[in-house]
Amino acid sequence: MKVSIIGGGGRVGSDAAFALQLGGIVKEIALVDMNADMAAGEALDIRHGSHYTSSQVITSSGDYSAVEGSNCVVVTAGLRRKPDESRLELINRNVGLFNSILDSLKSTKLADDATIVVVSNPVDILTHIAIESGITSPSRTIGLGTVLDTCRFCSLLADHFRVPAKDVNALILGEHGDSMVPIWSSANLGGAPLASIPGFSQEVAQGIFDFTKKSGAEVIRLKGGAGRAVGVSIKEVVEAIALDSGRVLPVSALQTGKLGISDISLSLPTRVGRNGANEILAPGVTDSERDALQASAAALKEVLGQVKAGV
Ligand code: 2OP
Repeated sequence: MKVSIIGGGGRVGSDAAFALQLGGIVKEIALVDMNADMAAGEALDIRHGSHYTSSQVITSSGDYSAVEGSNCVVVTAGLRRKPDESRLELINRNVGLFNSILDSLKSTKLADDATIVVVSNPVDILTHIAIESGITSPSRTIGLGTVLDTCRFCSLLADHFRVPAKDVNALILGEHGDSMVPIWSSANLGGAPLASIPGFSQEVAQGIFDFTKKSGAEVIRLKGGAGRAVGVSIKEVVEAIALDSGRVLPVSALQTGKLGISDISLSLPTRVGRNGANEILAPGVTDSERDALQASAAALKEVLGQVKAGV
């Protein structure tokens, strides 16, 4: 599978490319960036590691010529949030750039089975705009959504309670943003309720969720922007597409009624394969979790309305 990363010269795009190299599943990675030298430098640096990683075709370009024939297009290009700026506030600065990317993709010959994975923020709004662009069928355009938040949350819970991160299953759903929702009712450690972890307290766990929600801004404050965890999260989604694995991941997808949510893109558990969002699953949630997810959908719909009104 050929993957093109629009924004591949940037921190997120190049970390995603490096993660895909370490994964070794995709066959070709094209780094596309307005800064052609940065894209070329990242591609060369990654290519240098092929001997100890995997044999892939890794190319770069300053224009969309390298995107031709892509089976999967990952869009990471965008302006980063300022530490005190919410993702939704970022929309007004990013929507113009994103629409120009969509226009370029419309005039690029992609593979017939092409999927689009949106990462740029605010990812749910931009995913919805990309779906409405009609470049692919709705299910073939998805966003990274809360795959990253879920990864951070499980990792931070594991850090704190000193348990293996791969055994922590603590979902975050809804918006990749301020209204994201922790699904405590199904959180578990290898199948045992999270509350059974020695030393667990809901107060401490809530504090870890609160930190997770602020983690994007914290990484921006400390090092200028996230990259590593975003990169491995993108890899999980792209490799699920490449392998047509049906992995259930909380990607952002156009909702069609599960939990009473429709006509907006946000994250619910979704089977991901070569056709993108194969199936959206209704998670088991409490009434309050359902209410919070519906509130998340309402918040996103309000912003989408503002964007469409040019507010
Ligand atoms: C983050 O949360 C970039 O939105 C991404 O770090």
